[in-house]
Amino acid sequence: MPCEIHVLHENAEWSAPLFEAFERRGLPYRDWSLVEGSIDLSEVPPDGVFYSRMSASAHSRGHRYSPEYAGCVLAWLEAHGRRVVNTSRALTLEVSKVAQYAALGRHGVAVPRTASAVGVEAVIAAAAGFTGPFITKHNRAGKGLGVRLFDGLAALRAYVDGPDFEAPVDGITLIQDYIQAPEPFITRVEFVGGELLYAVRVDTSDGFELCPAEACAAPGATRPKFEVIEGFDHPLVPRYQAFLAANGIEVAGIEFIVDAAGRVYTYDVNTNTNYNPEAEAVAGRFGMDRLAAFLGQELARQACADAAPLAAAG
Ligand SMILES: Nc1ncnc2c1ncn2[C@@H]1O[C@H](COP(=O)(O)OP(=O)(O)O)[C@@H](O)[C@H]1O
Ligand SMILES: [Mg+2]
Repeated sequence: MPCEIHVLHENAEWSAPLFEAFERRGLPYRDWSLVEGSIDLSEVPPDGVFYSRMSASAHSRGHRYSPEYAGCVLAWLEAHGRRVVNTSRALTLEVSKVAQYAALGRHGVAVPRTASAVGVEAVIAAAAGFTGPFITKHNRAGKGLGVRLFDGLAALRAYVDGPDFEAPVDGITLIQDYIQAPEPFITRVEFVGGELLYAVRVDTSDGFELCPAEACAAPGATRPKFEVIEGFDHPLVPRYQAFLAANGIEVAGIEFIVDAAGRVYTYDVNTNTNYNPEAEAVAGRFGMDRLAAFLGQELARQACADAAPLAAAG
């Protein structure tokens, strides 16, 4: 059986830069798309390293059940003791912001005040408990799905009763304190192999749909939307690392926002990270290459049945 790096995903466009990085390093890999497929539980899984970059926003690309299918594949792999990078527990967090916030809280990481609600009337009732502006978002989200800002209950009522209301794919709407940043940016902290890769400053003046992939670049923008922060060092980093280690997450981008009083709120964990090519070119740091090197190193540690000697990944 081939000993490879298996990449579990549902987004060919976002995975292509990783495959190119494997090719540059001469690493054997398998593109394992989970858009559709089947596994036979009576069989033994293939050998190698398995990296899951399943995305919470799969349904927005028509891949409604890919996360559920990924859950099946990961259960099978883990039952056979395979080396999985971003485990089934990571997938549970990927598809639930509530699960993320609960787990972050256990590691002393502050999150914005958040309520979760099922049903339109429950959404309104939950929002009634908030003072000041709040946002709604989807529990299973990604790409800023369902993120909207409201200044009060009347505006929320009009939205949920109107034609623009998007029902969350898992039925769970979150109501969350709106964190007003004095300058319009958020910080996204990238980890590979559980280690800090870099942090990137993301301009949010265009709105809530942040997407680091090149395909999402705004035409005609003056200041770059994504900028790698040189020498990023923050007291949250060790807490994030403890959180990641406790939840089977080795590759992730974690987002935080700072309010006018300097309070830091963490609000999103992405386990299928993309890296912005322009920001990386300016900084001379390359996430996909670091990720390929990390996965190559993990592959070299595997005692595969037909272990072909691997070129040292340097
Ligand atoms: N509580 C908040 N206060 C202010 N802005 C927020 C808040 N939550 C999210 N945002 C903005 O909306 C964007 C998308 O929200 P996020 O929780 O990251 O959802 P997604 O998983 O869809 O990326 C964020 O990057 C940020 O710019
Ligand atoms: Mg986000």
